[in-house]
Amino acid sequence: MTHTPYPFPEGFLWGASTAAHQIEGNNTNSDWWVKEHTDGTHIQEPSLDAADSYHRWREDMDVLAGLGFTDYRFSIEWARIEPAPGRFSRAELAHYRRMVEGALERGLRPMVTLHHFTVPQWFEERGSWTAEGAVELFARYVAATAPVIAEGVGHVCTINEPNMIAVMAGAAKAGDIGFPPAGLPTPDEETTQAVIAAHHAAVKEVRAINPDIQVGWSIANQVYQALPGAQDVAAAYRYPREDVFIEAAREDDWIGVQSYTRTKIGPEGPIPAPEDCERTLTQWEYYPAALGHALRHTADVVGDVPLIVTENGIATADDSRRVDYTTGALSEVAAALEDGLDVRGYLHWSALDNYEWGSYKPTFGLISFDPETFARTAKPSAVWLGGLGRSRELPRTDRQAG
Ligand code: BGC
Repeated sequence: MTHTPYPFPEGFLWGASTAAHQIEGNNTNSDWWVKEHTDGTHIQEPSLDAADSYHRWREDMDVLAGLGFTDYRFSIEWARIEPAPGRFSRAELAHYRRMVEGALERGLRPMVTLHHFTVPQWFEERGSWTAEGAVELFARYVAATAPVIAEGVGHVCTINEPNMIAVMAGAAKAGDIGFPPAGLPTPDEETTQAVIAAHHAAVKEVRAINPDIQVGWSIANQVYQALPGAQDVAAAYRYPREDVFIEAAREDDWIGVQSYTRTKIGPEGPIPAPEDCERTLTQWEYYPAALGHALRHTADVVGDVPLIVTENGIATADDSRRVDYTTGALSEVAAALEDGLDVRGYLHWSALDNYEWGSYKPTFGLISFDPETFARTAKPSAVWLGGLGRSRELPRTDRQAG
């Protein structure tokens, strides 16, 4: 078997991803901030200052650009931009515009996510996505982001992981049941339809702002693998949790693939990973080959829409395992490209250690930060992954079986 590196295709995106609430700190007007300070939830600790990236985004970008990355995916915060219904903050729009310009000045192409899990608390209080007029409110916010995205932004992601939004809404409606030992709670169908409508409305708004922007959305891919005889069970399980959202991207400019691990499905449904398998700090099975399956499945469902890996990574305290995992995942990207899949980029999750929706313990970052001084330190994995951006080559290894 040859291990010759695979050259990046022309224009291949090479970067890392973040989300505002997870790194900015003090996102006090958001629904998450309120939840974090409410008793009786599954949340272990509040986000507080996070990595203080609201003030330190320049340092984050300096580190990424200095290491060899050419792309940076970050989200802008609706709760800051529209602190009260219909009231848009010029200062916050200017803040995010400075980030776009700061990225471009450093040679980082910005991919801007308009919505990454958090909503303004006022939107939550009026009933969130399924309340009357929610889609129009989201579209109005998207239109208001024009000063941020109109120029110099090649890619916009409307909504991050809409399927997880529907799953979380389903879990909440069922009485905040949390997550089962394997698989995901049943998504809330009304939320599914609302976020799909919100996406389609947002795509229109983005194209009206600048038709050259490549617009899409990013789906969490769980790589449901059917055991013998369980194909139909797996397909029925997957459809409302994944495929309905992938289908909704058929008219988009690209679709984001986000993959971390797999879920096996037997005749009775999801099966927990074996006790003795290697697990990451999120307790997910260590399975770098997931990304190849996620790319291929997405392409099967979406047709010829270009694919971008907008998240892939591992929560680990052992940075050498991050390099191993990512090497495996990148081999899958190389193999997919070789098989003719139209993969346009790879953005690692995450640029920084960050607030993992309830806890700082699962560390996904290429870069760590000191919680007191906020000083950034690039981990060896960051140096390695950024370096691949300089050589413009994807590594290839023997691919994992199974
Ligand atoms: C989300 C991120 C999250 C990551 C790891 C994705 O579900 O988009 O916000 O931190 O996976 O759990």
